[in-house]
Amino acid sequence: MQRCIIDNMGAFNAEVEASLYQRLGGYDVIAAVVDDLFALMRADCRFERFGTGRSLDSRRRAQQLTVELICSVSGGPCYYIGRDMRTAHAGLRITESEWGASLELTRKALKNNSIGPQEQSEFMALFEHYKNDIVETA
Ligand code: HEM
Repeated sequence: MQRCIIDNMGAFNAEVEASLYQRLGGYDVIAAVVDDLFALMRADCRFERFGTGRSLDSRRRAQQLTVELICSVSGGPCYYIGRDMRTAHAGLRITESEWGASLELTRKALKNNSIGPQEQSEFMALFEHYKNDIVETA
């Protein structure tokens, strides 16, 4: 019978840095952070104009797509099937100050879910990467 030989050097070489998705704690943690973020936005008068006139289903759809986008770009198994960020936000006239407020609430949602400092800053960097596609007015 042939025996398998475990190559220690090979095992060492196979060690790779865990993805942000894994370090965050996977899908459920991302879903919890996004759920918190959307709840904070709904409760904040600075975002009131984005909630009015939209059905519960439309809001849930945007929330779910946000989870899938983050899951996908952080190295998780999801495949994002929503619109690109420029198309999805075009015409909403999102301002610099609304953008700043959204980052503030995102930091709060990450803290609420006990995300570590390194992962918090990588998560924030993912969002900030989309700023030019989302913000339309000064
Ligand atoms: C000031 C900040 C933001 C505001 C006010 C905002 C608001 C909105 C609104 C109102 C929609 C619905 C558009 C529609 O259905 O017509 C939407 C869609 C969406 N947003 Fe944002 N957004 C912001 C930032 C972000 C960020 C930072 C991300 C993630 C990186 C994001 C991800 C998405 C996604 C995935 C959708 C759904 C796209 C689709 O329907 O295909 N948004 N957003």
